[in-house]
Amino acid sequence: MALSDVSLAIRPGERIGVTGAVGSGKSTLLELLAGLKPPASGRVRHDGRELGGRRRRRVKPRPGSIGLALQSPENCLFESTVLADVEFGPRNLGLAAGEARARAEAAMVSMGLAPARFSRRSPWSLSTGEQRRVALAGVLAMRPEVLLLDEPTAHLDPATRQELIGRLLEVNADTGATIVMVGHDMDEMARFAERLIILEDGRLAADGPAAALLADADLLRAHGLEAPATVRLGMMLAAALQRPVPALLSEAAAAGYLRQLAEV
Ligand SMILES: Nc1ncnc2c1ncn2[C@@H]1O[C@H](COP(=O)(O)OP(=O)(O)OP(=O)(O)O)[C@@H](O)[C@H]1O
Ligand SMILES: [Mg+2]
Repeated sequence: MALSDVSLAIRPGERIGVTGAVGSGKSTLLELLAGLKPPASGRVRHDGRELGGRRRRRVKPRPGSIGLALQSPENCLFESTVLADVEFGPRNLGLAAGEARARAEAAMVSMGLAPARFSRRSPWSLSTGEQRRVALAGVLAMRPEVLLLDEPTAHLDPATRQELIGRLLEVNADTGATIVMVGHDMDEMARFAERLIILEDGRLAADGPAAALLADADLLRAHGLEAPATVRLGMMLAAALQRPVPALLSEAAAAGYLRQLAEV
């Protein structure tokens, strides 16, 4: 069984990071949350509706309310041009053509895809990273209340990763969207997540404030994860200065400790 005994409540507007080793159940969790797969037992509810209930009771989420970007979103591109692909979601929601176009172009810009350069291209002529941006733009263009993103930064270069995380933070702040992001990079999680969930063999191994869990290098190591660079630097500084140093250091605080070290 891919997941068992997982119980969690997600509040509107939360930014949740989901992590854990390969095969721990992260993608399965997102698919259940999206109502894509019915749970073998137990329930998934969104906004008072039961999602993915078995057989006749099966209910889909309200159209456009939940946006899921799969782990290999490039497999989901199927239109003949990039613009048509990004527009597909908003058009399917029944938006007027002008509004769908405006949303699609805004989402492309936010993913670093200049419409003048990319709109008319075939998705199949793009690089993997570009295809991934197109797929994410397609999800963002629907402006869902809940965004479920399965390793959205995989295959992106560091600058684009930073941009994407910044964009997600903006979407969350501006629209109050709930965002659940799967990832393995704890520096990214330190920037993005307010709550962190660690899965192990399909079970919840930890679920709590991201700042506390990310500062626990032993816990992270036990799940095959590496603490954020700031946490590792803090541990090195504490050892060198032989006194405690706060667990999640800001860059400014780290610089201050390094100056102290230089003076020792
Ligand atoms: N349709 C299925 N039938 C049987 N087992 C499955 C199915 N889908 C997933 N699993 C199993 O469930 C477990 C969790 O899979 P899942 O894809 O959720 O892992 P993950 O944490 O997303 O891994 P990764 O980091 O590789 O993406 C794995 O052991 C997988 O083999
Ligand atoms: Mg996965």
